[in-house]
Amino acid sequence: MENPENPKSAGRRSFLKGGLMGGVALAGAATAGRALAAGDPLITEVQDWNRLLGDGVDAKPYGTPSQFEAHVVRKNVPWLTSDAISSINFTPLHELDGIITPSGLCFERHHGGVAVIEPSAHRLMINGMVDKPLVFTMEDLKRFPRENRVYFLECAANSGMEWRGAQLNGCQFTHGMLHCVMYTGVPLKALLTEAGVKPEGKWLLAEGADASAMTRSIPMEKALDDCLVAFGMNGEALRAEQGYPLRLVVPGWEGNMWVKWLRRLEVGDQPWQQREETSKYTDLLPDGKSRRFTWAMDVKSVITNPSPQAPIKHGKGPLVVSGLAWSGHGTIKRVDVSLDGGRNWRTARIDGPSLPKALHRFYYEFDWDGSELFLQSRAIDEQGLIQPTKDQLRSVRGTNSIYHNNGIQTWYVNKDGGIENVEIS
Ligand code: MTE
Ligand code: CO
Repeated sequence: MENPENPKSAGRRSFLKGGLMGGVALAGAATAGRALAAGDPLITEVQDWNRLLGDGVDAKPYGTPSQFEAHVVRKNVPWLTSDAISSINFTPLHELDGIITPSGLCFERHHGGVAVIEPSAHRLMINGMVDKPLVFTMEDLKRFPRENRVYFLECAANSGMEWRGAQLNGCQFTHGMLHCVMYTGVPLKALLTEAGVKPEGKWLLAEGADASAMTRSIPMEKALDDCLVAFGMNGEALRAEQGYPLRLVVPGWEGNMWVKWLRRLEVGDQPWQQREETSKYTDLLPDGKSRRFTWAMDVKSVITNPSPQAPIKHGKGPLVVSGLAWSGHGTIKRVDVSLDGGRNWRTARIDGPSLPKALHRFYYEFDWDGSELFLQSRAIDEQGLIQPTKDQLRSVRGTNSIYHNNGIQTWYVNKDGGIENVEIS
């Protein structure tokens, strides 16, 4: 790349021809790096940040991202809902790396706005078919042995707008009802054991303290397996948007069941058939019947970079393709990437921790020759379940569904590196 400040500066080609022009070339510099640009004022001139003292400590007692990252924010799609109270915004997946979602970027889904609850005024009740109905304060809960675990949360409606074809231009909007954080909380089993579940107690109703009083039925087997009653998120208290001071964590299962502002758990002998498990969060099939209790989130993946909001700007040559894969059934065993819309597949590299029911980060690096691409990713989980194409999904589920769309996403990359959401399989 020529330095516009100095037409005689060394471009990449003359660097390769002329060898080292003084200075140190790092191992990677011959591939993705640039030639040393003689006369680059960013090197030759003393810059303000080098000349002037900066802010002292405590300028921001609670740190925030750099001002140059101000574009990295959650976004909503105003036409999706009629107001912001019962609405959704989306995690900017294309701006993130690794597997942990920063707390302030976790998408929000509220049915009645954000409840503001002073922790000393919060109570969690366990009632119904138990030996000893109990009420816990937040202080009581913090006296139980606690655990730290990393899980993804995906709204059942994630990718729901894409059922009948490509619609929203960006993985933030097609896949951003997704986050993954470390929770700190008390295993639900410990609280239920304290209350003593009666033998006929096979179901649990979880209820929120917000204006929507979100209620969902959860089978006792799951409640006693890996659910948490969480007060912490990424090492600090839950954010208000995520249910402060207390939320239910239902690993691998649809986000709607992860009741925020959790205030009551009732033990019963059958499901309650609440609105959110009958008229909503059921999957209408082609024959007019509906599937219900489709709790687990199936194996899924998406390429987050490059993608419509993050086009290729550097031209031909080394390109890092990156994305996320996850499964509500456990860990991800393998992720494949295709450059040609699913004709040929190559194995991607999973990097970072591989934790059950958590996001996995994958990379696929190659030399882009500047030709058109149809980028896809396909995840396979530890149970051997393979992410389907959208056509395969529709052949079973039809086109009436909103929820549980785990179909393979395609990004069309044009010769200039511009990217669009398309569908080819
Ligand atoms: N819990 C309560 N009390 N109220 C709600 O509106 N929304 C649910 C679930 N729990 C909701 C709730 C839905 S549909 C989802 S997808 C997740 O919370 C979203 O969690 P988040 O806002 O932390 O991303
Ligand atoms: Co949801």
